[in-house]
Order: sequence, then C-alpha cells, then structure tokens
Amino acid sequence: MIKAVIFDLDGVIVSTDDLHYKAWKHMADLEKIDFDKKINHRLRGVSRRESLNIILEKATKKYSDQEKEELASIKNNYYVELLNKLSPKDILPNVNEVLRILKDKGIKIAIGSSSKNAKNILNHIKLIDMFDVIADGHDIKHSKPAPDVFLIAAKRLGVDPKDCIVVEDAVAGIEAAKRADMIAVAVSDAKKSDLADYKFDHINALLSLI
Ligand code: BG6
Ligand code: MG
Repeated sequence: MIKAVIFDLDGVIVSTDDLHYKAWKHMADLEKIDFDKKINHRLRGVSRRESLNIILEKATKKYSDQEKEELASIKNNYYVELLNKLSPKDILPNVNEVLRILKDKGIKIAIGSSSKNAKNILNHIKLIDMFDVIADGHDIKHSKPAPDVFLIAAKRLGVDPKDCIVVEDAVAGIEAAKRADMIAVAVSDAKKSDLADYKFDHINALLSLI
C-alpha cells in the first residue's frame, strides 16, 4: 500500500538543468575544458564533486583535491547567483496540483535530492513548507545511484521503503530507488532506464498508482 511519495527535486519539481549547465560551462570555459549539453546529461542526479570529476575527464591537466574544491566553488557560486532568480513560476507543470491531491489523500510527501542547494531552491519556489520531510545532499555520503537519500527520507517519514514511490528524472535516481526497494516512477530523461517500474510523460499520471 502506497503511504508516501518521494520526489527528486531538480528536473521533477523544478527545472534547474539549464542553470547547472550555465554554471558548469562558466567554470569549464575559465579552465578551457570542453563541455557541452551531452556531457551535462551525465550529471543528472550526480553529486557536485562527482559531476566535476566527469567534466574533468576532458581536461588536459591533473587537478589536486584543493584545486577541485576551488573549481566546485566557482561553479556553485555562479549557480547560487542564478538560483536567486527562481520563483514559483519555475515550478514544473502539474506539480502543485499533484502535491495538493496527495496531501488531501493523506499520502506523505518528501524530497530526496542529491543537491546541497535543495532548501535554497525550495525557499525560492515557495514550496519549503509543503513537504513532510526533506532529505538532501547534506544528509548523505554517497549520492545516487546509491539508495541513501531515499532511505533517509523514508526513515524520517516513518514509512517502510516498500510503501514508497520515488519520482525521478535521472537514470541514476531510478537505480537508487530500486536499490532502496521502492517503486520507481520515471519522468523525462529517466524514461531511458530499464529499471523503472513506470514511465510517465506527465507527473499527474502518478496519481493512478495511489
Ligand atoms: C542533483 C542534480 O539534484 O544535484 C545534479 O541533478 C547536481 O545535476 C546535484 O550535480 C548536486 O547539486 P548541488 O546543488 O549540490 O551542486
Ligand atoms: Mg533530477
């Protein structure tokens, strides 16, 4: 029986893909590293540091840990500037309606995001008080495809993982949901995943599972 829905944030509740892309591109251009939208796709759901390592596959020099820290900060500072422009208008279609219906049906709702900016984003789009639980990049050592962020969310909700649905736009997130023994709903890019239990074009289709 479904008792909770855990939503990924970036790409499910709000579209920050392009902002991540612009911020990484800013850093990559400064370092003269090739970076394009195809590589950006590989960063979905993946932590900041792991994303940087993927981008540095194209670098011609080796970076020390401290240099990597600096590059990640350059990206994040730029990204945080861009986040300041986010508003409730940036919430993806049907999301507000779906959240409201789930709450009315007594289903718990949570965020399970790899991002350390999750609360900042939720504040900007004015959804911070909507969720029963927020588990984010600050809570975990291992980001998706590790199941950690979803297991933490379920534990805080007091709900058995088997009774949770995860909604994800990232292939890594679908794998994380299955490793957490949850029902995995894929939207957007995650529909490529062979592991998804359901693939939906629109997020409101998930209401058919409740
Ligand atoms: C995920 C995004 O939600 O958060 C990734 O899909 C991103 O692209 C990751 O790298 C970490 O985000 P942040 O905000 O902590 O740099
Ligand atoms: Mg995502």
